Amino acid sequence: MKRPFIASISGKGGSGKTTLTALLLKTLMEVNYRDRTLIVDADPATNLPEALGLTLHRTIGDIVEEFRHKVDDPRVAAGYRKDIYLEGLIYEAIIEAKGYDFIAMGRGEGEGCYCYVNAVLTRVLSKLSRNYDVILMDMEAGLEHISRRTDRHVNTMIVVVDPSIMGLKTAERIKEVVKEVGIEVEEMYVVGNRFPKNVEEKLYNWASSIGYEVAGFLPEDPLIQEYSVFGKPLIQMPSDSSAVKAARAIAKKIKLID
Ligand SMILES: Nc1ncnc2c1ncn2[C@@H]1O[C@H](COP(=O)(O)OP(=O)(O)OP(=O)(O)O)[C@@H](O)[C@H]1O
Ligand SMILES: [Mg+2]
Repeated sequence: MKRPFIASISGKGGSGKTTLTALLLKTLMEVNYRDRTLIVDADPATNLPEALGLTLHRTIGDIVEEFRHKVDDPRVAAGYRKDIYLEGLIYEAIIEAKGYDFIAMGRGEGEGCYCYVNAVLTRVLSKLSRNYDVILMDMEAGLEHISRRTDRHVNTMIVVVDPSIMGLKTAERIKEVVKEVGIEVEEMYVVGNRFPKNVEEKLYNWASSIGYEVAGFLPEDPLIQEYSVFGKPLIQMPSDSSAVKAARAIAKKIKLID
């Protein structure tokens, strides 16, 4: 077991990042409430709360927006340390769920805010991360987040690929950008989502040529679809469903659980 375990889950749009994040958390919650765990929804689309059955009130983006309006008001601006005030607001946005904490990055409104939100998130995360043994981050699609270094503190990177050339290409680019930007990731895994059995072997060949380790495969599971359609939280999927069993094997492989 590796602690602190700080992992980002990235990949192309619709590849299964949010699904995998929710299922990995499920497998962790099945066996371990001891680890202090933080789940970060780093995708501005903020889909993870539904998958976890959480009601979100405010994202970091919302808070930063409120804060910007407040500090523009000269009556408010005097008399306190801005950064400490902002940090306090961010701590208030953490949801304490059963067995883990949750925070969503969201999106700042208006031009230019987005980078600011990221800068704030990166700084606060680095401070926050010292309070946790496990951090899982559901990233936005693509690779922008890496050049913005939202993944700076990550020691395990999990890239979800679907069986498409675009899925593989995104994973290749992620690898290149990690190198270009100089982020030090200890382990880089790919997870194949919805791979037909007869092409699994191809993922192994491709991964070893690129320098990824294959953490496993998430099978196409009709229950996942059913839960999505009816808005049922994925974290409540039965432990013996094929997707949860597969997620458990992936969690073991990446050393999230024993
Ligand atoms: N193994 C699977 N079996 C069945 N359905 C799946 C599977 N993986 C993902 N899905 C479905 O595919 C859709 C996309 O999955 P998901 O939202 O996890 O992808 P994502 O990478 O987070 O997408 P986005 O880039 O929009 O954040 C969802 O409707 C989900 O229910
Ligand atoms: Mg998602």
